Amino acid sequence: MGSVIPSFYSLLMATFLLWTSMAELPDNAPMAALKKELHGVGWIFQGSNYCSWVGVTCNPLNLSVEALELPRHVLKGNISGISELKSIKRLDLSGNLFHGFIPPSLGSLSGLELLDLSGNKFEGLIPSSLGSLGSLKSLNLSNNFLIGGIPNELKNIERLQEFQISGNNLNGSIPEWIGELSGLRVFSAYENHLFGKIPENLGTVSELELLNLHSNRLVGVIPESIFSSGKLQVLVLTLNQLTGSIPESVGKCKSLSSLRIGNNKLVGSVPPSIGNISSLTYFEANNNHLSGELPVEFAQCSNLTLLNLASNGLSGFVPIELGDLKNLQEFIVSDNNLTGEVPRSLLKCRNLSKLDLSNNRFNGSLPQNICSTSRLQFLLLGQNSIGGEIPPVIGDCVRLLELQLGGNYLTGGIPPEIGRIKNLQIALNLSFNHLHGNLPHELGKLDKLVSLDVSNNQLSGIIPFEFKGMLSLIEVNFSNNQLTGSVPIFAPFQKSPPSSFLGNKDLCGDPLITSCTSVSDTANENNHHKSSYKMVLAVIGSGLAVFITVSVVVILFTIRERQEMKAKSSELCDEEIPVASPLVITGNVFVDSLKQAVDFDSVVKATMKDTNKQSNGTFSTAYKAIMPSGLVLSVKKLKSVDRTVVNHRNKMIRELERFGNLIHPNLMRPIGYVIYEDVALLLHPHLVNGTLAQLLHESPKDEYEPDWPRRLSIAISVAEGLAFLHQVAIIHLDISSCNIFLDAHYNALLGEIEISRLLDPLKGTASISAVAGSFGYIPPEYAYTMQVTAPGNVYSFGVVLLEILTTRLPVDEVFGEGVDLVKWVHGAPGRGETPEQIMDARLSTVSFAWRKQMLAMLKVAMLCTDTFPSKRPKMKKVVEMLIEVKQS
Ligand SMILES: *[C@@H]1O[C@H](CO)[C@@H](O)[C@H](O)[C@H]1NC(C)=O
Ligand SMILES: *[C@@H]1O[C@H](CO)[C@@H](O)[C@H](O)[C@H]1NC(C)=O
Ligand SMILES: *[C@@H]1O[C@H](CO)[C@@H](O)[C@H](O)[C@H]1NC(C)=O
Ligand SMILES: *[C@@H]1O[C@H](CO)[C@@H](O)[C@H](O)[C@H]1NC(C)=O
Ligand SMILES: *[C@@H]1O[C@H](CO)[C@@H](O)[C@H](O)[C@H]1NC(C)=O
Ligand SMILES: *[C@@H]1O[C@H](CO)[C@@H](O)[C@H](O)[C@H]1NC(C)=O
Ligand SMILES: *[C@@H]1O[C@H](CO)[C@@H](O)[C@H](O)[C@H]1NC(C)=O
Ligand SMILES: *[C@@H]1O[C@H](CO)[C@@H](O)[C@H](O)[C@H]1NC(C)=O
Ligand SMILES: *[C@@H]1O[C@H](CO)[C@@H](O)[C@H](O)[C@H]1NC(C)=O
Repeated sequence: MGSVIPSFYSLLMATFLLWTSMAELPDNAPMAALKKELHGVGWIFQGSNYCSWVGVTCNPLNLSVEALELPRHVLKGNISGISELKSIKRLDLSGNLFHGFIPPSLGSLSGLELLDLSGNKFEGLIPSSLGSLGSLKSLNLSNNFLIGGIPNELKNIERLQEFQISGNNLNGSIPEWIGELSGLRVFSAYENHLFGKIPENLGTVSELELLNLHSNRLVGVIPESIFSSGKLQVLVLTLNQLTGSIPESVGKCKSLSSLRIGNNKLVGSVPPSIGNISSLTYFEANNNHLSGELPVEFAQCSNLTLLNLASNGLSGFVPIELGDLKNLQEFIVSDNNLTGEVPRSLLKCRNLSKLDLSNNRFNGSLPQNICSTSRLQFLLLGQNSIGGEIPPVIGDCVRLLELQLGGNYLTGGIPPEIGRIKNLQIALNLSFNHLHGNLPHELGKLDKLVSLDVSNNQLSGIIPFEFKGMLSLIEVNFSNNQLTGSVPIFAPFQKSPPSSFLGNKDLCGDPLITSCTSVSDTANENNHHKSSYKMVLAVIGSGLAVFITVSVVVILFTIRERQEMKAKSSELCDEEIPVASPLVITGNVFVDSLKQAVDFDSVVKATMKDTNKQSNGTFSTAYKAIMPSGLVLSVKKLKSVDRTVVNHRNKMIRELERFGNLIHPNLMRPIGYVIYEDVALLLHPHLVNGTLAQLLHESPKDEYEPDWPRRLSIAISVAEGLAFLHQVAIIHLDISSCNIFLDAHYNALLGEIEISRLLDPLKGTASISAVAGSFGYIPPEYAYTMQVTAPGNVYSFGVVLLEILTTRLPVDEVFGEGVDLVKWVHGAPGRGETPEQIMDARLSTVSFAWRKQMLAMLKVAMLCTDTFPSKRPKMKKVVEMLIEVKQS
């Protein structure tokens, strides 16, 4: 009762102030100037009282601006005027288009507690004046183009708790004083060019919980001090040049959940104190020079999900006790010197999805329980000393995607049961063993398999006709066996080089030179005539082929030369600063009618100019490229985090060509590619109407015209494209409205479809989180499974439907803390809100028919975004439901 009166009083007071001082609001002048300056489309100004503008928070008593929070509003302009807002405490302009220098005048905002300018295009140095921000607790300058070092003046910000400067071009070393910031909880400076040592005192006085310095040029040791307070939760030092050993004191950090120190030069053994870190979830120390044995103490880390010690010098046995790790999903120790039997206990880890023991000295035989209870998807045991037979129970590994058993001492036959592993798609490799007997025809059921290698064994008999059931096959190797008969007529076989079939006893037919007709020894004259006739044809044919090849090369060179001349002359005319373009290694255009119109060098050059940049996705950056021929292309530059391009170029090119043949009106297929240095560029048609995200969120408000039928038809098109992908067993890695493109007639095409096959996050240094897709679209189960699945795709598509229905972003702080679009929509009934309050009123109020269709689509979207993957409909069903919505 007592509290009612004062609060009523202060409300009255505030109203009174508001009423009296309208004309002379304290920040009127700077806010009016700012409104004029920030010409983005995303900021809504209503009325003259700036306190009611979106993103502005005022002090309730004197109406001065206390917070300006406008993240991701497509804003640009000069922000130096903000330094006039003397009472401001929080300034968040992240994810906009601001460029130029960070205004030094911001340093005069003595009350500022949070400054977030991340995700813009700021360049130049970090202004030293920011050191005057005595109240600052959180400073985020990540993902800009800042250069130079970390200014020493910042040491005066004694209360700094979160300091994030990752993703810039900063150089210099990490200053000592960072270790003296007593409140520091988060220090994130990854992806810069920082060098020197990690300061000896980092962490001694602070409350450090997160330290992320990956992808710099740091040297020296991991200082003990980092672990001294024991509060560290996440430590990422991957991809530096750190030496020395892993400090024993790491065991002090009971709450450390993620420890990632791969790709350095660390030596010594993993300290046994690792077992004291009860909350350890990820341990990743691959590509170092670690030695000694795998500590049995890992078994005490009951939450351990990923253990990666690949490419080190570990020796000894895998401790049986590791079988106690109930949550283990990935166990990767390839390229070490480990020995003993394939650890049977590990196979009892119910959640194990990847077991990689390749390139070690494991011996003994394959266990009988190999897949009794498991969710195993990757069983990689190649290049070891495993003997005995392949147990038929291998057929129980129904979830396997890849089976590598090559380079061992396996004997006996290939069990026909392998044909039951219908999911097998990446590879089946049994090469370099002592296998004999026939090739079981059951393998023909593996219709998703891409690569089959049974070379260098003692297999006999024919290649079964049923192998033509392997519809996805791209790579085959049957060489060096004792196979007989004719190679079945099957495109993947005849497209292979002869070396895939060489070294067999009596194998004949295309692509081998030995023709099969000569097999019949009792053949009559006629037959002889026929075969010699064939020989003559073959000789003429190959001569012709050589001639054609030579001519094509000559023609290509001439064209290239001409294009170069042309490019040079046009450069001179335009008086452009000539950009030294790197040497194109290879390139191809799949669409014949466009071959002449694409110039690879212009493609490369277009990606070197920032002004051509169109969008920045999870896996690629898109540029607009205008060819000398006038053709306009969209060029995607892959972010090759794991150096996929260098290591897997040929495989990648084949995958691309496969996608080039994947024709569906609602899929954006690649029309070609260019490769230079270690960069891969994918060529796509340029679609004039941009992306669905732009249509929904960036259309100027005053030009907006409600068009529900267009949105509905976009939804149906995308659903159809995605359903087709699922039908051919391709999972999309990044469904979002930014990857849905609109052509001149607003037909929708789903893009980024090829990424799933090009970037393999399971290889190299890419973190598991690199596959997660875009924020707000990631299905909740991803946190546990770390696997993108078809139901996961359905979820992401459901988020797109909600975006279409609500015209809201998938994540936005207006929903409240920790609430995204999905939670906000699903929570509506609980808040007593009707669907009308959720859907975009500009559409739903136009006609009864539109409203009805929107309500029906909302139902579909709710089903798609169900928390439980098993409850979500299949894409095919979603298409049916959406077509029903249209007809209703
Ligand atoms: C408004 O009030 C706050 C808190 O009382 C104070 O810090 C600030 O300086 C005042 N601003 C103006 C312009 O009076
Ligand atoms: C922004 O405006 C200030 C003062 O109005 C000026 O000094 C400064 O040069 C401008 N900055 C840019 C990048 O135009
Ligand atoms: C700071 O920036 C990084 C990178 O843009 C982002 O991931 C992080 O969430 C930001 N932190 C805060 C507190 O805004
Ligand atoms: C750091 O980068 C700046 C700007 O790119 C450059 O001028 C400077 O020489 C670099 N310093 C060092 C020590 O490499
Ligand atoms: C930490 O690990 C070491 C080595 O295994 C052990 O001797 C020590 O008792 C452990 N400390 C705690 C607090 O558990
Ligand atoms: C293991 O993870 C669960 C779920 O994240 C958590 O509740 C639990 O406290 C963790 N266990 C330890 C020992 O940290
Ligand atoms: C395996 O993972 C699931 C989540 O996918 C989790 O609920 C379960 O506790 C884990 N452990 C076992 C032994 O199944
Ligand atoms: C592997 O270990 C064996 C004995 O355990 C040793 O003889 C051999 O040199 C080691 N090989 C490597 C490459 O370290
Ligand atoms: C496997 O290797 C270990 C260690 O090198 C050896 O002790 C054991 O006898 C070997 N087992 C077999 C079956 O060869």
